[in-house]
Amino acid sequence: MSYNNNTENKPESSNERRKLFVETFGCQMNVSDSEVVVSVLRGTGFELAENPGGADVILVNTCSIRENAEKRAVNRIRQHLGEKKRRRGVIVGVIGCMAQRLKEQFSENGIQVDIIAGPDSYRDLPSLIAEAGTGQQAVNILLSREETYADISPVRMDKNGVSSFVSIMRGCNNFCSYCVVPHTRGRERSRDPGSVIREAGELVDAGYREVTLLGQNVNSYLWRNSSNGEKVDFAMLIERVALELPGMRIRFATSHPKDLSDKLLHTISRYSNICKHIHLPLQSGSSKILKLMNRGYSREKYLERVGAVREIIPECSLSTDIIAGFCSETEEDHLATLSLMEEAGFDFAFMFKYSERPGTGAAKNLDDNVPEEVKIRRLNEIIELQNRLSFESKKTDKGKIFEVLAEGASKKSPYDLTGRTSQNKVVVFPAENHKSGDYVNVEITGFTSATLTGKAKNKS
Ligand code: 5AD
Ligand code: SF4
Repeated sequence: MSYNNNTENKPESSNERRKLFVETFGCQMNVSDSEVVVSVLRGTGFELAENPGGADVILVNTCSIRENAEKRAVNRIRQHLGEKKRRRGVIVGVIGCMAQRLKEQFSENGIQVDIIAGPDSYRDLPSLIAEAGTGQQAVNILLSREETYADISPVRMDKNGVSSFVSIMRGCNNFCSYCVVPHTRGRERSRDPGSVIREAGELVDAGYREVTLLGQNVNSYLWRNSSNGEKVDFAMLIERVALELPGMRIRFATSHPKDLSDKLLHTISRYSNICKHIHLPLQSGSSKILKLMNRGYSREKYLERVGAVREIIPECSLSTDIIAGFCSETEEDHLATLSLMEEAGFDFAFMFKYSERPGTGAAKNLDDNVPEEVKIRRLNEIIELQNRLSFESKKTDKGKIFEVLAEGASKKSPYDLTGRTSQNKVVVFPAENHKSGDYVNVEITGFTSATLTGKAKNKS
């Protein structure tokens, strides 16, 4: 690729490309956004630095979902500001959700960053960097109703070259009462399906074998063509991707239970290249708590949707997110979560302690009144139960043969490959003559609660 050597912060005569270091905290959407940021800045003459020590511009893409995530990011930002003291002229910027949430409050808290850029202002980064180069703090925290970065081809930064992401929508309209995302990422908007197919096609051309379609709530994806009124929903979009990219595995995240339609489940079951795994965040098994969380479904409705998944896609795995100790959660509510987990038999879960986020509905209207030690104890009980459920889920896989997409050498041995089944379970197996990017039929011979182990049956 060519660089135009724009030299805003370098002497006129310098031919060196400016170096950019981007560090990413948080969810897959942030990883995907960082790839957009690198693409935007490459176009203005930046190249990637391996580490912050070699960078002219350091950007930290931040997450606000829980207080701990913010604390980790602040520690890193402070370290980078130390770099600035050692090397004059280095520009340190905060981008992403924390930038949006805290805005100028960074300076008020003694964190003197050069750039503050929210999730919808990444196209503006070249001029923000130029402004920061003049010694002024540069800020853009405007949220957009339209921005989807549809025309920007992200610069892939994954290590394996096998599996990557395409973001299909941005923002969220759900306003779950605990959640900061609608406040930091703005209103929901869906991306033109043509641009989604184009970007996924570019991944195929680059040798990728798996794509994850990303959105806060992919089930509410809806594209309206303003010229002919055509509507494309998520079931239609994923079907198009599956048909147009038959050699590609397709995953998606995240599904909101209230919008998980039978139509989508039938589409998933119809195409062998759509992975049989649904991430369906539960949050709580108590209808009372779900109502306070503004989730839009009850315990019964969630279980009804799990039943539909089991009926329409029997081989489908289910993972979930759970929050322990939300406002006014009683022991009975907590037990309802545990019993629902058993009933649904989740294969995997991300489990969190409730963390009040300023500005959210819960922070404004509800009391964060579950004592810390009770939150911790309940979270531990949830984790313990999930460990057992994960173990049981793996146990049923023993003796079965799964098609595994190999993603690279296992961490423990260069002679083993690691990959995932359609159900998103990690499998480690002897590489033999197989390599990263291959689909390999693996017979499962053993397991722990985290990983399946097996042996290749034949080369597919
Ligand atoms: N406290 C704890 N967990 C949270 N999540 C979102 N907001 C909070 C919060 N304030 C969890 C939810 C969500 C996942 C991405 O993070 O479970 O599904
Ligand atoms: Fe947050 Fe709820 Fe939107 Fe998910 S659906 S991003 S939990 S508000």
